[in-house]
Amino acid sequence: MSENIKIAVVGSGYVGLVAAVCFAEMGHDVICVDNDERKVAALQGGDSLIHEDSLPELLEKYRNTKVRFMTDLAEATRECEAIFIAVGTPQSEAGDADLSYVEAVACEIARSITSYKVIVEKSTVPVYTNEWVTRSMERNGVARQLFDVVSNPEFLREGTAVSDFLHPDRIVVGADSERAAAVLRRIYLPLTSGDYYERSGSIAGSCNVADPPPLLLTSTKSAEIIKHASNAFLALKISFINAVSNLCEATDANVEQVARGMGLDSRIGPKFLRPGIGYGGSCFPKDVAAFRSVAEQLGIDFNLLTEVEKINGQQKKRFLNKVRSALWTLRGKRIGVLGLAFKGETDDIRESPAIDVVEMLLAEGCSIAAYDPAAIARTQEVLPAASNLRYVTDAYAAAEDADALLILTDWAEFSNLDIDRLNQALRYPIVIDGRNLYDPDTMVKHGFTYLSIGRPAAYPVRDLTAPSAS
Ligand SMILES: NC(=O)c1ccc[n+]([C@@H]2O[C@H](COP(=O)([O-])OP(=O)(O)OC[C@H]3O[C@@H](n4cnc5c(N)ncnc54)[C@H](O)[C@@H]3O)[C@@H](O)[C@H]2O)c1
Repeated sequence: MSENIKIAVVGSGYVGLVAAVCFAEMGHDVICVDNDERKVAALQGGDSLIHEDSLPELLEKYRNTKVRFMTDLAEATRECEAIFIAVGTPQSEAGDADLSYVEAVACEIARSITSYKVIVEKSTVPVYTNEWVTRSMERNGVARQLFDVVSNPEFLREGTAVSDFLHPDRIVVGADSERAAAVLRRIYLPLTSGDYYERSGSIAGSCNVADPPPLLLTSTKSAEIIKHASNAFLALKISFINAVSNLCEATDANVEQVARGMGLDSRIGPKFLRPGIGYGGSCFPKDVAAFRSVAEQLGIDFNLLTEVEKINGQQKKRFLNKVRSALWTLRGKRIGVLGLAFKGETDDIRESPAIDVVEMLLAEGCSIAAYDPAAIARTQEVLPAASNLRYVTDAYAAAEDADALLILTDWAEFSNLDIDRLNQALRYPIVIDGRNLYDPDTMVKHGFTYLSIGRPAAYPVRDLTAPSAS
């Protein structure tokens, strides 16, 4: 039988906020704590602040009732049985994970503990973090029997975060004490028992009552490593197919065919074999760097990860060269850009390869009209509009009078454009697609020069029998 558990979630970003409303959706009572007063006020007022499917609806359903937002971590600690730490763990100057936000939270929790609590690492952290959190609690005077630290890494993807949280492939719980493991089992019981999926109005997804998600219980260290290893492996898959796409370009082969041929092998699988302009976002770049750094500190040769990063960095430069190959010189060229977010269906621009490409084009003297369905406001904070950079309200406005149109983010919206209208809008019908959203044959039939990743460049066939203009 599922029970209602009091949970604190510290951090109200992509992970914390989604976890908070999803725990409420599962039936628990949640206090979501953030030290950013502006954020807390916005959330209390019903503004979710981030672009996520189903999030506004869940926030509206539970805000100020089953999910309370506050800045007071001491109160949340006193009231709750489990405290999930979901603050940022950005990359430090040295390349490893900056754990200062996690430490600050641990110290604050330590000051308010009066009864047994389970402290849960939800943030992505390197192996041994649980030991540091434990040490930090003890140094702040908390008796060892008053807490346990467990690792419960989060695997949600931005854009589908709510359904990923409620329909996970697996729930990983790293706990070295049975008492703490039992609390986590109770928290996730609505999912692991399948109960949640039978409720009317439950959020749809891949799990159901007959096929609920498994909860994998491991040591805390293993759980910490599972998260870093998973992200590093996914990044590796992307870099691998990007390297293969370069090979395809050099041989006039077609990477889509190659990826399909590989992906049909059940040992490989089709996912994350989509070539592009490189991975980005707030996770893969920093997590690969942090994992590499952990290996280095332990004296383990994991240079494979250095290669993964190297290929990823080169991919953007190769794309710029592709633009140059289509336009010859770049200075003074007018470029339409579709996509600023690091991937489709999110407004997150952290480490976005699209933004890197835009910056490289601006540095080359291009002027840009950029459109993104959700990420313009965030982009403007780092790249304000200027005489050489305009933000426009739709894809056709980006194409208007441009020398070429670049597709930099795989938004679903960009796969369904009226390509004849785009052709009309462009000064020259050139599309350079960094996400392989279109079929080259179709583009050529509609009169485009179409360059994509790992596929032969496609040019409209010239009718050589037609009389020349001169
Ligand atoms: N974004 C993702 O897709 C994703 C997926 C899985 C795991 N993760 C991991 O989850 C963690 C959080 O990522 P995110 O994208 O949600 O970050 P985020 O930057 O969107 O949110 C972090 C939040 O923590 C708050 N915060 C910082 N210090 C605080 C403190 N002392 N007290 C209270 N609140 C504090 C910030 O104000 C912010 O709202 C990271 O470790 C990340 O690697 C992220």
